[in-house]
Amino acid sequence: MITEKRDHARDKHRRSPSVQVWPVVASQIPDLVDIAAECFPDWQPQSLDWLVMIDVAHIWVAIEGDRVVGFMIYDADNDYVRLRSIAVTKSHRRHGIAREMLDTLFAQRIFARIGQVKCRCREDRLDAHLFLKSIGFVYFGLEHRAYPGGETAYWFRLKPEGQS
Ligand SMILES: CC(C)(COP(=O)(O)OP(=O)(O)OC[C@H]1O[C@@H](n2cnc3c(N)ncnc32)[C@H](O)[C@@H]1OP(=O)(O)O)[C@@H](O)C(=O)NCCC(=O)NCCS
Repeated sequence: MITEKRDHARDKHRRSPSVQVWPVVASQIPDLVDIAAECFPDWQPQSLDWLVMIDVAHIWVAIEGDRVVGFMIYDADNDYVRLRSIAVTKSHRRHGIAREMLDTLFAQRIFARIGQVKCRCREDRLDAHLFLKSIGFVYFGLEHRAYPGGETAYWFRLKPEGQS
């Protein structure tokens, strides 16, 4: 089922040939920070925990020309990969760029080894919920007061192919 969804999504979403997904380099951090500020309303420039995570997290950027148009951040626990954040700048949404970034994650050895991916997102981020569901993620729980403003988080997971 998940496989079908992934294949379907891959068929539907052909990224712009000019968009590439690469590990971030230091000179791209300001663009990444700008996209984070645009996409996450409660993000503050001083909330540089993103950057502190660089040493432990994997940070990838989607690039069009020399412009960063999206990013994803993930790290790994013992039994799952945690997708900490994924975002695409507003002008470039619905072009398959987030899907392409997740395909990059699915191609990593860490995903092949662990298989399961989890992520949480704010309950009011309908766009993100629909995106995750389109990939094959399923909702499995709530986390109350998950964010500094007290908002609830929805948890989603994508299981390894072949598991129900
Ligand atoms: C969620 C987000 C990353 C999706 O990025 P994107 O590059 O636009 O997503 P894609 O183009 O790869 O979308 C793939 C599919 O997901 C679904 N989808 C994505 N955004 C959607 C939306 N706003 N409404 C409905 N479905 C949506 C669709 O099925 C879409 O396929 P389609 O365009 O052929 O209908 C982007 O909307 C974003 O940055 N949101 C703000 C940040 C955020 O909430 N991040 C998630 C935190 S976990």
